[in-house]
Amino acid sequence: MRAIINTVYGPPEVVKLLEVEKPVPKYNEVLIKIHASTVNRTDCGFRSAEYFISRFFSGLFRPKFKTLGNEFAGEIEAIGKEVTSFNIGDKVFGYNDTKFGAHAEYMTMAENEAITTMPGNLSYEEAAPITEGGHYALCDIRAAKIKSGQNILIYGATGAIGSAAVQLAKYFGAKVTAVCNTKNVELVKSLGADLVIDYTSQNFTKTDQRFEFVFDAVGKSSFGQCKPLLNEKGIYISTDLGKNSENIFLALTTPIFGGKKVLFPIPSISKEDVILLKELVETGKFKPVIDRRYTLEQIVEAYRYVETGQKTGNVVITLA
Ligand SMILES: NC(=O)c1ccc[n+]([C@@H]2O[C@H](COP(=O)([O-])OP(=O)(O)OC[C@H]3O[C@@H](n4cnc5c(N)ncnc54)[C@H](OP(=O)(O)O)[C@@H]3O)[C@@H](O)[C@H]2O)c1
Repeated sequence: MRAIINTVYGPPEVVKLLEVEKPVPKYNEVLIKIHASTVNRTDCGFRSAEYFISRFFSGLFRPKFKTLGNEFAGEIEAIGKEVTSFNIGDKVFGYNDTKFGAHAEYMTMAENEAITTMPGNLSYEEAAPITEGGHYALCDIRAAKIKSGQNILIYGATGAIGSAAVQLAKYFGAKVTAVCNTKNVELVKSLGADLVIDYTSQNFTKTDQRFEFVFDAVGKSSFGQCKPLLNEKGIYISTDLGKNSENIFLALTTPIFGGKKVLFPIPSISKEDVILLKELVETGKFKPVIDRRYTLEQIVEAYRYVETGQKTGNVVITLA
């Protein structure tokens, strides 16, 4: 089969399209013919190992995962002898950041992992980007214990995580103020934001509003900047480590004092999360934003674009 292979850490050009052996599903696994995947910031992090700490997960000296790609949508082509919850021909989607492998024509997944059948009437390209930004956003919103009616601010509302966070926060009943660039104000309103701050004309840290939760979904702010925006017991979460990895330190220390605090939840995803995201898509409460589409052959260009830090939502990879 054709697969994208990376044997060293480095810039987008380290990935190569090569012929490799097609995987064989184990007794508890399904073999998926991939029709669509994405290139996202998780792939970029594992490909570049820009932050040394990430090498404890991705391989200390060289990449442990030779084929990246965590989001997938495709059709089950074969099943292991003990698989009971899927059948050959099922259209499925899901997420795998424990061994990756979706930047290829085929991948395997254990049936109990983060995989389920595709939402009805969605194309493979629409189903592939449901999970990455979606599960990070879900994880952070859950950590902040958002309740109906609470006031929250989402900075970076147009990224994969931010655009999912706006929609999921609305699902949890929050009142959402979203911060984005002029060109995306209408998009962010269409995702459900109650108020939009255009960061090109207004400094969001100067707003008079106060929030139970400030979510920096693009990792460009600091707790120091956002602290005045929080109410007495407000929570700040950033998707980035911050300057000198301060968000880790602050997450360990600020909760001790009982006032405004930083959290740094470790993201995780379960089959139940994928099923929840599927239900939200089916009921029209969540629609992943798609920016550009590339083919597997164009994956280097896709990586270059994603690494501009300016994609709007998700970048999809299509496979014939
Ligand atoms: N290391 C990892 O494994 C990993 C995995 C996932 C995510 N992350 C981190 O999580 C963050 C979000 O990821 P993502 O995939 O959701 O991001 P993304 O899709 O790359 O986010 C880009 C979006 O952020 C907006 N943006 C850029 N600069 C901004 C600014 N100064 N203020 C407000 N918005 C700004 C961009 O729009 P405009 O330029 O038009 O404003 C663009 O729509 C990133 O910092 C990423 O590093 C890390």
